[in-house]
Amino acid sequence: MSDRVYVFDTTLRDGEQCPGASMNSREKLEVAHQLARLGVDIIEAGFPVSSDGDFASVKQIATEVRGPVIAGLARCVPRDIDSAAAAVAPAGERGRVHVFLATSKIHREHKLKKANDEILRLTEEGVRRARSYVKDVEFSPEDASRTEPEFLAQVVRVAIAAGARTVNIPDTVGWAVPEEFAALIRYLLENVENIGEAVLSVHCHNDLGLAVANTLAAVRAGARQVEGTINGIGERAGNVALEEVIMAIKTRSDFFAGLELGVNTREIVKTSRLVSRMSGLHVQRSKAVVGENAFAHSSGIHQDGILKKRETYEIMDPREVGWGETELPLTKHSGRHAMAARLVQLGFTLNEAELDTIFIRFKEVGDKKKFVYDDDLAALVEDSIAAGRDNWILDYINVTSGSTTIPTATVRLRKGDETLQDSSSGNGAVDAAMKAIDRILSKHGNLIEYHVDAVTQGQDALGEVTLKVDFGDGKLISGKGASTDVVEASARAYLTAVNRVI
Ligand code: KIV
Ligand code: ZN
Repeated sequence: MSDRVYVFDTTLRDGEQCPGASMNSREKLEVAHQLARLGVDIIEAGFPVSSDGDFASVKQIATEVRGPVIAGLARCVPRDIDSAAAAVAPAGERGRVHVFLATSKIHREHKLKKANDEILRLTEEGVRRARSYVKDVEFSPEDASRTEPEFLAQVVRVAIAAGARTVNIPDTVGWAVPEEFAALIRYLLENVENIGEAVLSVHCHNDLGLAVANTLAAVRAGARQVEGTINGIGERAGNVALEEVIMAIKTRSDFFAGLELGVNTREIVKTSRLVSRMSGLHVQRSKAVVGENAFAHSSGIHQDGILKKRETYEIMDPREVGWGETELPLTKHSGRHAMAARLVQLGFTLNEAELDTIFIRFKEVGDKKKFVYDDDLAALVEDSIAAGRDNWILDYINVTSGSTTIPTATVRLRKGDETLQDSSSGNGAVDAAMKAIDRILSKHGNLIEYHVDAVTQGQDALGEVTLKVDFGDGKLISGKGASTDVVEASARAYLTAVNRVI
């Protein structure tokens, strides 16, 4: 058995299924480029048949992102498989079609209403159809952990015989516990005669908080591909957090002896921040590996120990995952060239037009702030990517507010040569600005979530607003914006969300 553990990232597919986490195609492309720098082996870029936008985004990633295999998800039906194959085609040999079909009794009887032999037939037909397009086919028996092991073994055998080169065992509803899940992996390795022709993979959800434990137990039992998302984002309690699995295997190499990963762990923190900003999903401070507090020691005893020998209380070197790699900040005197060079260092892939837009914002911020830190710059880029091209942008905002005045905002928006302006009062300055945008664009959004964070420290810090809005159909649309002025950042964030529904 090979000792290489393949890392399959599904942030852009399963992760993006998290309510309110949807990203536009430009944001997805940026995340995909960063995942390639992180060195994941496979990027599941989306579910192409689900919408024209998803199809286009998977195709764009397959065309532009170099390095990892690019996968597209498909149900076990011809339309889905054809669509996924077409979307990943630009990646050539690096294109993978990932076909799934539920196999558990509860799914067979209540969802699919299909007998076991039909499931076996569909598995074979689906995998063969995918193989007619690409060599690299992955098959997932959905809800595998609740499937009768004997039947699961039959399905896996058929999928491999039909040409699947990876067979993934999903714990779809986060039902498994580590010992039992490891036993299932061992059972498949021992009872599926052709298992050696495929890589055995696992895909764990975190409903009982066991996703990392289950994934690691499966790896110990012989699984050689791990599927998950950055920051553990995903439906319900999320998918397994890949950064935790990666650092567990690396840090405890004594226990996971001989296992190899192709990941550049120094890119982990950067990737985590990018995903958090692009998806609008905050990372809790105490989250393992990537939380703000993951390496903060406050007790005197711990600090004393660390100063004497770091390993007394620190099992990982923070630099190993990319913490603390800061450069000298830029200032308003820094030119476009210096800014562009720093953006390349930070890992962004921007075209000239995008650089022009960001440089204007950089100068505005530089006029208000003594130093423009890397995090400020990243927030400006992410703000401008979230705003998108060919959308309404904030041209001007003026707000009056105070303890004895009715808060009022005047907003001017611009799209190409067209400008529109209107004013509104509101419960507060932020509310007034949002209502003015609503009046201009004839929308009505209800603010469901609102966060403001200081991007860096100090009184002149850039404020970054992340919000979620319901425009009346029950769907949560996220938006984000950054500025030294919190009301302006809120208006920018709200406008991003409005642009998305438009
Ligand atoms: O959780 C799951 O079962 C899935 C499959 C599509 C792999 O996401
Ligand atoms: Zn899943």
